[in-house]
Amino acid sequence: MKKNIPYFRFEIAPMLKKTNKHCRYFYRKLTKKSLLYTEMIHCNFIKKNPIILLENKNIDNIVLQIAGNKPKLLSLCAKQAEKIGYKEINLNLGCPSLRSQKNNFGACLMHHPLIVSDCIKSMSDSVSIPITVKMRIGINNDDNYDFLHKFIDLLINSGCSRFIIHARKALLYKKINTRKNLIIPKLNYKIIYKIKYNFPNIKISINGGIKTLLDIKKHLKYVDGVMIGREIFKNPMILTDIDKYIYHTKSISKNPIIIVKSMFSYIEKELKKGIPLITIITPLLNIFYGVHGSHNFKNFIFNKKKILKKNNLDVLKKALSFIKIK
Ligand SMILES: Cc1cc2nc3c(=O)[nH]c(=O)nc-3n(C[C@H](O)[C@H](O)[C@H](O)COP(=O)(O)O)c2cc1C
Repeated sequence: MKKNIPYFRFEIAPMLKKTNKHCRYFYRKLTKKSLLYTEMIHCNFIKKNPIILLENKNIDNIVLQIAGNKPKLLSLCAKQAEKIGYKEINLNLGCPSLRSQKNNFGACLMHHPLIVSDCIKSMSDSVSIPITVKMRIGINNDDNYDFLHKFIDLLINSGCSRFIIHARKALLYKKINTRKNLIIPKLNYKIIYKIKYNFPNIKISINGGIKTLLDIKKHLKYVDGVMIGREIFKNPMILTDIDKYIYHTKSISKNPIIIVKSMFSYIEKELKKGIPLITIITPLLNIFYGVHGSHNFKNFIFNKKKILKKNNLDVLKKALSFIKIK
């Protein structure tokens, strides 16, 4: 068995309105080792609702992804998160939304390296857990190697421990919406490999368009970690290979029906709190991706709108009968 595999070798990308707490609970059933992230939470929101941080108390290997540009407030939130047990604090420097541009957080902060530097310094001086960033390879016309190198160099000197780099630049101030900013322009993995080559002691993870175990292994020859978002949501069973093939630990059950059944008691507990069934089970619905009967499974659930509204687990139990696993 290989030793000393870093805990961030594989990371599940934060995705607003997708990787919520129900989704993360489900993903933990599929991989015990991978690093999980909260969805992006703005520091102003944490200030008003600090209770949100408690949602992840006692969860292993979870990172708080935070957004904002105020060093003092960010460090206050980082301190609270450290007390609760988060593994790392990750500053979002990749969100291209119009809201983030208007309020000067996310990807547009890559135009303001000194502000980012102050934010990182303030947080890293306040806590002992790692401060990391999730960033783009560039923004608008700041998309060359020198820009990226200087940006990373500055943040290393400010106390940033690790970089998760989305291999696609962000196009801001244009009529390109958030969705398009995830498919254009082209991915550039080589620039991230070059960063790792030139900063051999700094931990670098790569993100963007990665889909298979084979892809993951290929990237790990050049960088320290791999992060995947959309492909996991589309086909969560990919995660059942991660513990065995990336962390070289015990493998996870590969029977999706057993996995769904193992979620029943959690679903019932959440239903009792008044959470709608569809909110809890949405991340689960793709578990049968590529399996015979998966369309009928989903159609059955969505055609039973009345039953869905009753928030009774039976609709999920009945839908399972459509799945034909050999
Ligand atoms: C619906 C959606 C929501 C996202 N929300 C966040 C977020 O909250 N924080 C963040 O850093 N990135 C967010 N992202 C970007 C992803 O984390 C990731 O960087 C991007 O999808 C590229 O990786 P992938 O090709 O593996 O999906 C989001 C992406 C999508 C599709």
